[in-house]
Amino acid sequence: MKILVINGPNLNMLGIREPEIYGRDTYEDLCRLIREEADCLGVQVSLFQSNHEGALVDAIQGAYQKQDGLIINPAAYTHTSIALLDAVKAVGIPTIEVHLSDPDTREPFRRISYLRPACLDTVKGLGFDSYLAALRRLVSHCRSLKETSR
Ligand code: DQA
Repeated sequence: MKILVINGPNLNMLGIREPEIYGRDTYEDLCRLIREEADCLGVQVSLFQSNHEGALVDAIQGAYQKQDGLIINPAAYTHTSIALLDAVKAVGIPTIEVHLSDPDTREPFRRISYLRPACLDTVKGLGFDSYLAALRRLVSHCRSLKETSR
C-alpha cells in the first residue's frame, strides 16, 4: 500500500515559524516520525512539500493510479484553494486533511476549509500526532476497501 503525504507552504519552516503554535520540532523531525509510523504499519510512504499551489496540484495529479491514499496539510491554501479541492476530487484517491493546530479555534479566516468536502476526515490540533492518527485511519480505510473489492 502506498501513501503520499503532501505539505503546503511554510511547513518547511517548522521549528522556526511561530513555535508557540507549531512547536520546536522541524519538518525533518516530522518526516522521520511519519516514516517510522509507516514502517510500523507496513506501508510505503512518500513525502512532498511545496510553497507553490501549482506544484501541490501537480503532486496530487501525479498520485493518480499510483497512490492508494493521500494525507494533505494544505497549510494556508486550506483557506483559499479551490484548485486543491478540484485536484483531490479529480483523482478520486481517499484523502485525509490534517492540521497541526486547530484552525477552527484561531482567526475567523481559518475556519473555512475548501479541501474538507473532498476528504474522508480531518485530523487537527494534535501537533505531529495529527499526521500519525491520519496515517492509521487512512491505512485502515484503504485496507478495508481492498478487502471489500476482493
Ligand atoms: C495549518 C493551519 C493553517 O491555518 C496555517 O495557514 C498553516 C498550518 C496547521 O497545520 O495548523 O500554515 O495548516
